[in-house]
Amino acid sequence: MKQTVRLAAVGDLHVKKTSQGLLQPLLAPVNEMADVLLLLGDLTDYGLPEEAQILAKELTTVVRIPIVGVLGNHDYESGQHTEVCRILTEAGIKLLDGEAVEIHGVGFAGAKGFAGGFGRGTLGAWGEPGMKRFVQEALDEALKLESALARLRTPRRIALLHYSPVRGTVEGEPLEIYPFLGTSRMEEPLNRYPVDAVFHGHAHHGSLEGRTSTGIPVYNVALPLLRSSFPERPPFRVVEIPLEGSSREELPRSGTELPPASRPPVPEQGVAAPRPS
Ligand SMILES: [Fe+2]
Ligand SMILES: [Fe+2]
Repeated sequence: MKQTVRLAAVGDLHVKKTSQGLLQPLLAPVNEMADVLLLLGDLTDYGLPEEAQILAKELTTVVRIPIVGVLGNHDYESGQHTEVCRILTEAGIKLLDGEAVEIHGVGFAGAKGFAGGFGRGTLGAWGEPGMKRFVQEALDEALKLESALARLRTPRRIALLHYSPVRGTVEGEPLEIYPFLGTSRMEEPLNRYPVDAVFHGHAHHGSLEGRTSTGIPVYNVALPLLRSSFPERPPFRVVEIPLEGSSREELPRSGTELPPASRPPVPEQGVAAPRPS
């Protein structure tokens, strides 16, 4: 029986038609370093089936541990997310859209999440129908996550999102785009159940770690952020989850493979926010 389960997490791979062969050498160390690989959305760049095929081939060629993931906003761009999902699922990747799965005794619940801002700045469902639809999308995603969490009976629970549920992990991005990087509406179910850790992507130039209001660790594992923070390391973050003889409060604040969190430098082009993360 395992005493710990090691999670390797990365989001925002943004696989393109030209990405064939690029991921395999980067992901090869994951088999030795972790027990489960988590993919936190924006798996493809334009949400094209061709991109999904390339990603599926890259993953099945090199990764021998279970893979769990969620889709991101880029995976919806071409309106073919159902096909993208089918291709990746047939390749053995468990994609969560309001679902839950148990692996090695740890429960994983996932949803894409949505935008809408944080704290007192969270957008309210008020005024024009369009504004109400926007907020409803975030509420629907929060409900998906909550229903997934409610199905888990494991002592350890992990949440997967693409958008951030807290402000802390988007800090470092231009202030003007914070509301489009996530929303506090996803935070309530995380605190209520509660989970042991949350992983997300999307904020390419945000911060590595944050906390929910009840102290649950939140990890931003967007690939550009990991690359700029730890250029010498494999492009995923490893966090160890204790299974036996540990209380939820004893979960380490930082991933065991990494030093304490630090704010990464914000690249010049990050300030201009050229396109959605
Ligand atoms: Fe994104
Ligand atoms: Fe992204």
